[in-house]
Amino acid sequence: MVNFQYYTPTKVIFGKNSEEQVGGLIKEGNYKKILIHYGGQSAKKSGLLDRIIASIKEEGISYVELGGVVPNPRLSKVYEGIELCKKEGVDFILAVGGGSVIDSAKAIGYGLAGNGDVWDYFEKKKEPKGCTPVGAILTIAAAGSEMSNSCVITKDEGGIKRGCKSDYSRCKFAIMNPDLTKTLPKYQTSSGCVDILMHTIERYFAADKEMELTDGIAEGLMRTVIHHAKILVDDPFNDDSRAEIMWASSLSHNGITGCGTLGDWACHQIEHELSGMFDVAHGAGLAAIYGSWARYVYKTDPSRFAKFAVQVMGVTQNFRDVEKTALDGIKALEEFFTSIEMPTSIGELGITLTEDLRKELAYKCTFQDTRTIGGFKVLDKKDIETIYRMAQ
Ligand code: NZQ
Ligand code: ZN
Repeated sequence: MVNFQYYTPTKVIFGKNSEEQVGGLIKEGNYKKILIHYGGQSAKKSGLLDRIIASIKEEGISYVELGGVVPNPRLSKVYEGIELCKKEGVDFILAVGGGSVIDSAKAIGYGLAGNGDVWDYFEKKKEPKGCTPVGAILTIAAAGSEMSNSCVITKDEGGIKRGCKSDYSRCKFAIMNPDLTKTLPKYQTSSGCVDILMHTIERYFAADKEMELTDGIAEGLMRTVIHHAKILVDDPFNDDSRAEIMWASSLSHNGITGCGTLGDWACHQIEHELSGMFDVAHGAGLAAIYGSWARYVYKTDPSRFAKFAVQVMGVTQNFRDVEKTALDGIKALEEFFTSIEMPTSIGELGITLTEDLRKELAYKCTFQDTRTIGGFKVLDKKDIETIYRMAQ
């Protein structure tokens, strides 16, 4: 194992009607004026926004609203939020939505707490030194941003998608009512389940020697997600499955499934270029990439892939042929993706990558050929181009 820090300061309020507590939670923090930040139309249409505003008014808290965050949230909306919050004297940001809204809220928080252009943090030109406090009411189980230290924003010009990590941005609280996810389209539910699964898979495949305890937690989480994701395809109103998936979204990205390992994260880097350029749902993009990444790298440590196959996918161990077990596990995961109506190739996302496009994506992914990605197997620009080609 490698040395690690485990820091999860987010207060979780989980369960039915938990959003009704939002006014009281904000009041506890003595904030003077809040921004209610949300997405396109789902929170308005479901009546959630009205219920939240009622709770906030009841506590006598002043607020301004800013909606219109799109999936793969844009830098232009972040700038708009920073300007509005400065003008209105906002000292707390309430994100109502999923990863996109929460990340937009975090980026606004970075912009308010720092000087200069907030995009500099995403381009790694400087480190954040603070973030205006953010709280979340989660409406889709997927990105795990409600408990993660991460924030991912897309620059409008050129579709450049970049992440910024710091503990400053961790949510003060996360309100999670699984019922709120029942209005999700099937595609978004499944895409979210893939992302949840991938946050632990990325941690599971690492160069470091694994910890037995961490492996056990990770394998249990992955089996649970696979089981309940399948149920939700035909039974989207299943209370137990909605709850299991929602809690898994937070645990899969708050660090607990990766204590003692640095993880891999290549699939995420490769996918972020795709969703930055083509605006696909992040989880669906990951499903399209995974099998090709796995087949490209598994020989680095076939026994690790075989362990995943047996412990997570229920594949029978072939004691004479560890590579066969490893490959059976990769196939089984792809079959799971298909069973929840997710793509297993870039073509199924409706995208055709030309040789030039592959080169451009790989060039961007390596920050203009200045870095490699991946921990399990280190990948350079040429490797990434090959994975895009295999995934077509
Ligand atoms: O905008 P509205 O109308 O709300 O529609 C949204 C959106 O179209 C809809 N939706 C959300 N809750 C709903 C609902 N529709 C009906 N009923 C509800 N209850 O779902 C669509 C997708 O929402 P989005 O927030 O984009 O989904 P997700 O949570 O998957 O977030 C994806 C973003 O998070 C980033 C991704 O790259 C992507 O930009 N990630 C953030 C991470 C982090 N901060 O830790 C880690 C992840 O790896 C990921 O990169
Ligand atoms: Zn993700």
